Amino acid sequence: MSEQVSLKGKVVIITGAGGGLGKVYAHQFASRGAKVVVNDLGGSLTGSGNSNRAADVVVEEIKKSGGTAAANYDNLVTNPEGILQTALDNFGTVDILINNAGILKDSSFKNMTEKQFTDVLDVHLNGAFKLTKLCWEVFKAKKYGRIIMTASPAGLYGNFGQANYSCAKLALVGFGETLAKEGYNSNIKVNIISLLAKSRMTETVLPPDVLKKLSPEKIAPLVLYLTSEECPSTGSIYEVAAGLFAQIKWQRSSGLYLNPSSDTLTPEAILHKFSKISDFKDSDYPIMLKDYNNVWDVTSKLGKNDQGKIKIESLRDKVV
Ligand code: NAI
Repeated sequence: MSEQVSLKGKVVIITGAGGGLGKVYAHQFASRGAKVVVNDLGGSLTGSGNSNRAADVVVEEIKKSGGTAAANYDNLVTNPEGILQTALDNFGTVDILINNAGILKDSSFKNMTEKQFTDVLDVHLNGAFKLTKLCWEVFKAKKYGRIIMTASPAGLYGNFGQANYSCAKLALVGFGETLAKEGYNSNIKVNIISLLAKSRMTETVLPPDVLKKLSPEKIAPLVLYLTSEECPSTGSIYEVAAGLFAQIKWQRSSGLYLNPSSDTLTPEAILHKFSKISDFKDSDYPIMLKDYNNVWDVTSKLGKNDQGKIKIESLRDKVV
């Protein structure tokens, strides 16, 4: 196994790299010899306004430290083509895409307007879709690619006032899990990070003593590793904050099996056995639709009154 994480010469596009986490990633990729496209429209936290300055400052700083970078000011949603073009014009290709740009339009669901909902989905989800789709063609052709989807604890667990944001963030999980499977045979690896860090997104909602522990520099090492040649991981979700690096999995309880063709398949059977459905004592961790295959086998073999239980053999170690 290699002792080093190699990113030298790789071309990386980082969306929303004019500030916050993206800026830290940009510096760290550049310091390891990657060629960085610093995309940022330079808008406010809610997505209004624009300025070239955010991206320009990061590119100037990188160049001053001897790194290689090019600025791009396109809105990810309306001109994703421009972002890829900046990579192609300056560096001839793209190897790594960090889907990082984002906005917030928080509101309780009662007061959330359709525009607040769709604007947030547009940047986080549709923007990531559009740029990933363009880069995918390059990755497929060269049989190499690394992609990061930026999710959030709000997407995994829900968070008051963030129905729009949590929808977008969990959608990115499914998006990443699917692309990991579709990209597997082309050496395209796609991972998802769910993080917490100090930035303008969090500095008004978290207390100062907590913020002190959450520097964005604590997120970057995992992002760099996951997008390196060395990393074997794909389709996984990682939670990162304050020095914690952990993996998140879907967990399924061992469950309740009812014979589908018998009179035990009733709401009352669920009522009486509900605790069995939620019993996680002997659970497994499905990673693909194929993990359901044994369910059909088991239920079709159950006797008339069987309410059996079987451990589903997981295929989690094989991605097909
Ligand atoms: P940030 O607001 O500092 O950075 C986001 C950047 O994206 C900004 O510089 C903004 O100008 C840019 N941007 C917004 N819309 C854009 C568009 N349409 N086209 C191009 N650029 C655009 O926030 P932060 O915290 O650095 O967020 C980075 C990512 O991490 C976001 O996806 C955010 O949702 C996610 N995240 C952050 C968390 C945190 O604790 N800070 C928690 C969980 C997820």
